Amino acid sequence: MNQHPFIPYLPKKYSEEEMLSRSENFFAEMNLRRSVREFSGESFDKKILENIIATASTAPSGAHKQPWTFCLVHNKALQREIRLKAEEEERRNYSGRMSQRWIEDLAPLGTDHQKEFLEIAPYLIVVFKRVYETDAEGTRHNNYYVNESVGIATGMLIAAIHQAGLTALTHTPSPMNFLEQVLERPKNERAYLLIPVGHASKEAKVPDIQRKALEEVMENYE
Ligand SMILES: Cc1cc2nc3c(=O)[nH]c(=O)nc-3n(C[C@H](O)[C@H](O)[C@H](O)COP(=O)(O)O)c2cc1C
Repeated sequence: MNQHPFIPYLPKKYSEEEMLSRSENFFAEMNLRRSVREFSGESFDKKILENIIATASTAPSGAHKQPWTFCLVHNKALQREIRLKAEEEERRNYSGRMSQRWIEDLAPLGTDHQKEFLEIAPYLIVVFKRVYETDAEGTRHNNYYVNESVGIATGMLIAAIHQAGLTALTHTPSPMNFLEQVLERPKNERAYLLIPVGHASKEAKVPDIQRKALEEVMENYE
């Protein structure tokens, strides 16, 4: 078994004051992120999303397998097909497949089975997790910590989308296997998340939710 050659790691080093200010600024920026369900159709250079996807793919992953594929959809016919199939699944979810408790939890967000944003947003990023890889002899090898790895990469994707001045929605019209068929993905890929990306429409509104305070999400052990 060959080990990778090892190279020096030379990270940037900031003063404590700079670290404090950078972490405060990043929090302030990320605290402005919201899930938006009303998009304008305004398009923009695809290169921006290529940079964002490249950022997501810098994420750590189990045994460095990078078990993800980000499909960038910028095609109205495909977007319409995805919308219709997503609405079909969501209609079933909202009319019986979701528990009463789940419907009640979603009620304050004002969501329903209609997903016109899938057609209006200029781009969709469909995230797939790669469950296994196949070697030259045709043998399958499972990837490791696939959900954790793809979750981290998608978090970085969402942060990069926001940092670039764009808006996204993390969408899960489950079951999402229709995305594997519509986009003709290989057998080792499973749909993970559907993320419309664009600018929020001028009329867009978001629910006035509050985030948990730091004390509620953090425990100190000193
Ligand atoms: C895994 C996951 C799945 C989600 N699925 C949906 C969805 O299918 N439809 C939707 O409108 N919002 C969906 N959301 C968005 C959440 O409702 C939203 O993140 C939450 O209400 C907090 O709002 P914020 O993102 O604006 O902070 C999902 C979020 C996550 C993390």
